[in-house]
Amino acid sequence: MRVLENVPLAPYTTFGIGGPARWFVEAHHEDEVVEAVRFAREHATPLFVLGGGSNLLVSDEGFPGLILHILLKGIEQNGRNFSVAAGEEWDAFVTTAVSQNYAGVECLAGIPGSVGGTPVQNVGAYGQEVSSTIRCVRAFDCEQNRFVALGRDDCHFGYRRSIFNTQARGRYIVTRVEYDLIPDGYPTVSYKDLKQYFEDWTTMPSLGQVSAAVREIRHRKGMLLVAGEPDAKSAGSFFKNPIITPDHFEQIVVQTGGANVPGYPTEGGQIKIPAAWLLEQTGFHKGHVHGRAGISSRHSLALINRNGASAGEIIALRDRIVAAVEQKFGIRLEPEPVWVG
Ligand code: EPU
Repeated sequence: MRVLENVPLAPYTTFGIGGPARWFVEAHHEDEVVEAVRFAREHATPLFVLGGGSNLLVSDEGFPGLILHILLKGIEQNGRNFSVAAGEEWDAFVTTAVSQNYAGVECLAGIPGSVGGTPVQNVGAYGQEVSSTIRCVRAFDCEQNRFVALGRDDCHFGYRRSIFNTQARGRYIVTRVEYDLIPDGYPTVSYKDLKQYFEDWTTMPSLGQVSAAVREIRHRKGMLLVAGEPDAKSAGSFFKNPIITPDHFEQIVVQTGGANVPGYPTEGGQIKIPAAWLLEQTGFHKGHVHGRAGISSRHSLALINRNGASAGEIIALRDRIVAAVEQKFGIRLEPEPVWVG
């Protein structure tokens, strides 16, 4: 294991923001994960696991501990079971599954980042979440100092949530994820945008056609991060969609003069309301400029690094948005990206 020092983190993030890591190691094998944990312990320093860097905001001061960059590779297929190493690129795995006509992840095409991050925040989009297909997660348990296998139920998945980012945050380092996919299964066409896309079709689209449609829709919304394109430096959705009570939702309907308030029924009779809509209602529209930070011109939920923004500038914009939405609607937005620093 080669330990590097003072490594700038900005190039490892899709935001392109962040100061240096005090220490930085790459793990190509599980042994290196164990060594990194030992190193962090011996130096009494915090350890942060870096995957694809697509859902992170790194502080301008950087990270005072050890960054462990997960680069484990390999996909092992056993029938409908795909065991994928954490460092594999998520979107490449989706392409592999779809090209072999396995259903279950076709709507999750075009999402940046690596496989290891998918169970952590229960990645979801366009009508699918990885919690529906994950069979098991292999991880190093830093408390018990050994590798463990967690079944789907052990992961306690919810909207953008799992034990890995809630009660057991920092305890496990994901090294492999097993997905149980459906051979020759039907594609999921349940999300509004996808239904609209295929509304004139007289035949059922194939898995490949659905994943291509998702990519196209994501591209249109600036959620397909294409290097060099405008607004490409972001972490996707910057806020989670808040979940509120039906009474609170009614109050917002009245407050906005009965406008067509978007809302989707969710767990426990609550309503999920798009954060993007709340931003627009408080004056934070697509293309909003805040110094070198701003909002994507294609989707109001993506905060962007327009041109050399600092983490501080993104945070300043975040705070203005959170305060405005809270003041107008009594909803406290929660950021989606993980803060490092
Ligand atoms: N909307 C606006 N302005 C916009 C965009 C959207 O007002 O610029 C409103 C509209 O009412 C629209 C609604 O928000 O109908 C929902 O928009 P969209 O379908 O784009 O979805 P989203 O709720 O903004 C979520 C996920 C995305 C995921 C899409 C599709 C979260 C925080 N975000 O976005 O995930 O791709 O649904 O399933 O749940 C991500 O997590 O980084 C991400 C991109």
